[in-house]
Amino acid sequence: MCGIVGFIGKKPAAPVLLDGLSKLEYRGYDSSGIAVYDGSTIQVKKAKGRLKVLSELTHDGATMPGTVGIGHTRWATHGEPSDVNAHPHYNKAGTIAVVHNGIIENYLKIKKRLQAKGYEFLSETDTEVVAHLLDYYYKGEPLEAISQVLYRLDGSYAFGILFADHPDKVYAVRKDSPLIAGIGRDGNLIASDVPAVLKYTRDIYFIGNGEIAELSLDAIAFYNTDGESIEKEAKHIDWDENAAEKGGYEHFMLKEMYEQPKTVRDTISPRLKDNDIVIEELGMTDEEIRAIDRIRVVACGSAYHVGVSAKYIFEGMARLPMEVDTASEFRYRNPILGEKELVIIISQSGETADSLAALREAKEHGNLTLGIVNVVGSSIAREADRVMYTWAGPEIAVATTKAYSAQLVAMYLLAIKFARVNGRLSDGQLKEYITDLKKLPEQIEMLLNNDERLQKFANRYVAAKDVFFIGRGIDYAISMEASLKLKEISYIHSDAYAAGELKHGTISLIEEGRLVGAILTQKDLYKKTMSNIVECSTRGAFILAVTNEENTEIEKIADYVIYIPQTNPYFTNSLAIIPMQLFAYYVAVGKGCDVDKPRNLAKSVTVE
Ligand code: M6R
Repeated sequence: MCGIVGFIGKKPAAPVLLDGLSKLEYRGYDSSGIAVYDGSTIQVKKAKGRLKVLSELTHDGATMPGTVGIGHTRWATHGEPSDVNAHPHYNKAGTIAVVHNGIIENYLKIKKRLQAKGYEFLSETDTEVVAHLLDYYYKGEPLEAISQVLYRLDGSYAFGILFADHPDKVYAVRKDSPLIAGIGRDGNLIASDVPAVLKYTRDIYFIGNGEIAELSLDAIAFYNTDGESIEKEAKHIDWDENAAEKGGYEHFMLKEMYEQPKTVRDTISPRLKDNDIVIEELGMTDEEIRAIDRIRVVACGSAYHVGVSAKYIFEGMARLPMEVDTASEFRYRNPILGEKELVIIISQSGETADSLAALREAKEHGNLTLGIVNVVGSSIAREADRVMYTWAGPEIAVATTKAYSAQLVAMYLLAIKFARVNGRLSDGQLKEYITDLKKLPEQIEMLLNNDERLQKFANRYVAAKDVFFIGRGIDYAISMEASLKLKEISYIHSDAYAAGELKHGTISLIEEGRLVGAILTQKDLYKKTMSNIVECSTRGAFILAVTNEENTEIEKIADYVIYIPQTNPYFTNSLAIIPMQLFAYYVAVGKGCDVDKPRNLAKSVTVE
């Protein structure tokens, strides 16, 4: 997914832009470029390939003097990855330069109109229309030209814009694609994501839809599209600058897996008070909680899997019905929502386009919405009625691990809260749950320490073509996440099946040597899943089993066993997923895959 950085300050802009773009590399890209005002004109340099190529081309920015500039990493959508399609794009005179994230849906129509007026296009991108359209409407007033252009665009966008005859300003505007502005010591910045600016500032403005930011050397002003000034408050972000560095680990994903004990602790502990669960952010009285008769979780990818796991917990522990929807389906199917239904949107980035649209849909229905979000101030965090933050810090690797673990425990806390308020938990049970919750970080750490053994095992599967993960109940939810982790980073086809479903078709794919990952953490379902394992192993499958410490007899049937420590059955997901993450990671490393930036994937999916 594309990345934007912009800078106006007292020091050379190009090195700041290159450094900021390097912090956005994790989003995935195939070309990059920067534009810097050199005192008389806007200079543009662009290059296909890694950021390294652009750095070499500009001698780490030294050949591009000037203290005002914008930069971009492009993930091709309209037009192949190439120097010419890379951003920034500019008008014919080279006096206006633009970088863009998102998609301009009506760009072909605009392009035709501009061509009819004599405008010539160099690239195949949707973005170039914006540079020419700005040129068309520009009469010396940047704000006026930007507003005129915005009125004519359909789609989602975040722009960074330079005007050569306003060289003391950088402009930024967005709609449905994230963009922030930061107040730095040596200048001000824009970026599509917080890690890009952490080295320079932690004081951040989250630019709202349709808001235009005007950055000068010592101020950031905001306007609406009528040119009226807007008051905004900066938020202080606590994230550590080093959180966006690998810190000695080979990959961000590995580092983030190892951060899970902390992430889980940080998400749980502020909500444990006097041996009770206190979730102040819920902003609901016990009476209001009791009034909720159904919960709906809407999310995408791994966050959706958290929802699937939570369904078993809410229904089992709190006896509260829960529906779980993928956001891309929910938003277009004209859903029927109950009046007293709480809608929970789970999202690490808080910017996932489908999840954001689902949130808006739920709000239109008049339902109370709660965001479980990791990025402070993100769109979902701002728009949801209530926000419960997961304290995972910045997650850089495309494949989520620590944010997923934090989302899981956030859902445990909510389930316990609802169960307690609804009279479903005795004092004794509450005490036991809290004791088990507190143990999770240490137990996760223990499982992480098993990584050498798993690495050896994973090395045997780098050439696998298909892998199946099976389980029942919560173990099925764990299987879904285990399967997604493996396929997204190792490119090995894998599927998750509710173990009981195997014999309804999928078992025909089980053959000699096929790897089947079986999760058996639920005591009441253990024997049932065991029968399914036997069905697979008698057909020649190699069984990797993840189960509780006491189930040692499984070794008679499974070929490789990983034991998880004793915890409450509702919390086993937090433990069983750890070896599955490590397995996926080491298979991908063994295959030589780009673990942190898997092909075709973006960290934050801000387009449909
Ligand atoms: O930022 P979000 O939590 O809304 O992202 C949702 C999914 O895009 C995300 O979980 C995705 O599936 C990851 N690649 C999984 O590792």
